[in-house]
Amino acid sequence: MRLAYVIGTRPEAIRSARLLHLVEAESSIELALITTGQHYDWNMMQGFLEELDVPQATHHLEVGHGKPGEQMGDITTAMSRVLEQDRPDAVCVFGDTNSSLATAIAAARAEVPVVHIEAGCRSFDMRMPEEINRRLIDHMSALLLAVSDVSKQNLERENVLGRTVVVGDPQFDVFSREAPQRMEVSGDPVGLLTLHRPQNVDDAATLDLILQKLSNAAEKTGVRWIFPVHPRTRKSLSGKKLRGVDLADPLLYRDLLALLSRSSVCVTDSGGLQKEALWMQVPCVTIRDSTEWLETLWQGVNVLAPPWTNIEAEVQSALDSRERDFSNPYGDGTSCERILEALLTSAADGMSFPLPPLHAPDVAGV
Ligand code: UD1
Repeated sequence: MRLAYVIGTRPEAIRSARLLHLVEAESSIELALITTGQHYDWNMMQGFLEELDVPQATHHLEVGHGKPGEQMGDITTAMSRVLEQDRPDAVCVFGDTNSSLATAIAAARAEVPVVHIEAGCRSFDMRMPEEINRRLIDHMSALLLAVSDVSKQNLERENVLGRTVVVGDPQFDVFSREAPQRMEVSGDPVGLLTLHRPQNVDDAATLDLILQKLSNAAEKTGVRWIFPVHPRTRKSLSGKKLRGVDLADPLLYRDLLALLSRSSVCVTDSGGLQKEALWMQVPCVTIRDSTEWLETLWQGVNVLAPPWTNIEAEVQSALDSRERDFSNPYGDGTSCERILEALLTSAADGMSFPLPPLHAPDVAGV
């Protein structure tokens, strides 16, 4: 099987690490690893590829800069050329990024089957580019690899035409191999803070409001925030020094996990970090009004607190020591083995959509 695999952003590099090790070791798969260049700084991409020993990329599209529309257009054009030339048997895309959507469009038009890893996640929030991206990718995919039964049910409700397999979460496979033990720290509590969503950081006044509330929370609770700053966020930072908030450069994966392991609370708008906090048993406050990781809310280990809400009170409540349900709804650490099996089985069966029925269907679209 000739498999193309696409990585565009920091989270795709991290979450793909274990799977790519298995794929590389599988003699019946010939891998073409394509980086799009959506993330291009060393500490947003290459650093993670080296740290997690991801195989060398075979193609670099280098089309990262530019507004999202231009960026997606450029990735689609460059990817179409690669796919037309290489004609892989399938192309794997991950999650919900612009790189993944642009690749899926290029592949679907080149009649190369799309495999979607992390299929079926839904925040039901169409204001988020990621929600638009993941829905479109799912409907273009011939093989959909879902992290949980909830994701599978979402796909069934939408009548996707590809084949769905629940495999668990490959991000947990990487986490469970890389994460240190949780540590109790004496003295003032540490809080891990990350922010990069456009709705939180593109407007300097909104970012200021969030940081002011977190600084207030620091004063009330003694928590000290460590804030590794994403390049998108850095552009809107006012330079004002806030008490209790320490800025840092983006961290490599193991350093981020080490920081999480000694944190008493995590405040974030990242998708992946909400799950990593659950796995590390750190209560999370998510600066958004929706999330695709609903299980974390249902279990009471994560709470939504968009910028205009009482973030201070949510931080206080997260710091209260009480019993919480940190059980893991996202697989058992062997998701990548299941993905590999699903890929090989689908390749053997011929990875394509079912043909439309020749008879008139009873219900439109069924
Ligand atoms: C993207 C993903 C998001 C993911 C996040 C992780 C989409 C729609 N969003 O958001 O789901 O959680 O990555 O980081 O794909 N920049 C740099 N250096 C870099 C990378 C980006 O300076 O290495 C700048 C870009 O030029 C751009 C801004 O940061 O101005 C945002 O980057 P972009 O890739 O558009 O989106 P993210 O916010 O990172």
